[in-house]
Amino acid sequence: MIIRIDNVSKHEGKEATVQGWMYNKRGSGKIFFLQVRDGSGMIQGVAAEGEATDEVMKVAEELTMESSVRITGPVNKHPKWQGVYEMQIKKIEVIQQCADEFPISKKEHGPDFLLDNRHLWLRSKKQWAIQRVRNTIINATYEYFSDNGFIKIDSPILTPNACEGTTELFEVPYFDEGSAFLTQSGQLYLEAAIMSHGRVFDFGPVFRAEKSKTRRHLTEFWMMDAEMAFVDHEGNMEIQEGLICHIVAKALEKNEAELKILERDLEPLKKIKAPFIRKSHAEVIAELREMGSDIGEKDDLGADDETKLTEKYDKPIFVDRYPSEVKAFYMKRDPEDDSKALCCDLLAPEGYGEIIGGSQREDDYDVLLKRIEEHKLDPKVFEWYLDLRKYGSVPHSGFGYGLERITGWIAGVHHIRETIPFPRMISRLTP
Ligand code: 4AD
Ligand code: MG
Repeated sequence: MIIRIDNVSKHEGKEATVQGWMYNKRGSGKIFFLQVRDGSGMIQGVAAEGEATDEVMKVAEELTMESSVRITGPVNKHPKWQGVYEMQIKKIEVIQQCADEFPISKKEHGPDFLLDNRHLWLRSKKQWAIQRVRNTIINATYEYFSDNGFIKIDSPILTPNACEGTTELFEVPYFDEGSAFLTQSGQLYLEAAIMSHGRVFDFGPVFRAEKSKTRRHLTEFWMMDAEMAFVDHEGNMEIQEGLICHIVAKALEKNEAELKILERDLEPLKKIKAPFIRKSHAEVIAELREMGSDIGEKDDLGADDETKLTEKYDKPIFVDRYPSEVKAFYMKRDPEDDSKALCCDLLAPEGYGEIIGGSQREDDYDVLLKRIEEHKLDPKVFEWYLDLRKYGSVPHSGFGYGLERITGWIAGVHHIRETIPFPRMISRLTP
């Protein structure tokens, strides 16, 4: 019977077949240990002289790295390691033997080489583990939203207007219309959908043409936007807290083996419980200056500031009420201080920095029109968005997370290019 490796414990003592790829081999002559990966996990197959046939020994000896195989034999508990199983190989069927040496070996490779071979690098143990953590985060997100009264609304990728800022857009030719732009966030469209559904979210690729070359920036990444009617700034933060706690709990529950492969310290993740830390932008600026930063009172937080600040705490930090001039036009102002926006960024601990950006939205027609003009945006393009303030406007809020940033934090990966299957960066478009 063909089994999946993640189900192997159910087949103890019985003969089974595993099909997959040989990712590592040890031994020589009298005994071979073949590590086989089938997607769901990894298992060791043992071919020992005397027990295996000469034919099996010969095939095992010649089998090359990443060749595709089926191995058959009884499943037993590993003699030393608890919870680990191995197979005594009675039969090996080679599906395809790699004639060329697999380019990625156990020796150290530079990041450019690995990224050039991303299509093959994805098979490495750590890369396998990262994608599985990412998948858990996606599933946990859908779960949290469907359990909390949200429905998924798919926002468009080709758009006529900017959401976050006009200088960061990828422009594409669009028939008689001239140009379209690849979306930076589905937020504005979700604001339309809440008037129909109350609470909604989207999840898809977004595009940023900004020339940022940091470990936290990609030009294409996956964003989840959530938007809620009748939710204010405080309520917005509570929903984010609930979502992040659920995601972390699920990763700890589902990805024990993966986080072990990634050598992720689990203690900091276990501390992720509500309430998170809440600080205003002004408080954070004062704190950073005390730590020796020369950041100005009205500055946005830079990457280094975020790193320094979040290394100090073991919980995520909400930083709210940024100066309105460093934030987007659609953010509602703080009724107590018109120079501040009712926004918040959520920063992940351990130096990871911003994972979520969100705000309460401006819901007054005249004020919003004024902001659009102040930001030198074309009101004509935003007519439909302004309409939402004409027909049953309500207080509302929302936020967006970057999937790669959250995956990087939870998996403990330094550069987010390893958290997306095929990264797109300023100087990388292949494979
Ligand atoms: O803070 P941002 O720009 O917020 C928005 O786009 C809002 N419209 C979201 C909303 O309110 N619905 O982006 C949201 C998140 C950031 O916190 C960060 O995690 C991620 O997207 N992000 C990036 N991730 C990778 N590469 C980039 N270049 C990113 N820019 C933002
Ligand atoms: Mg942001």
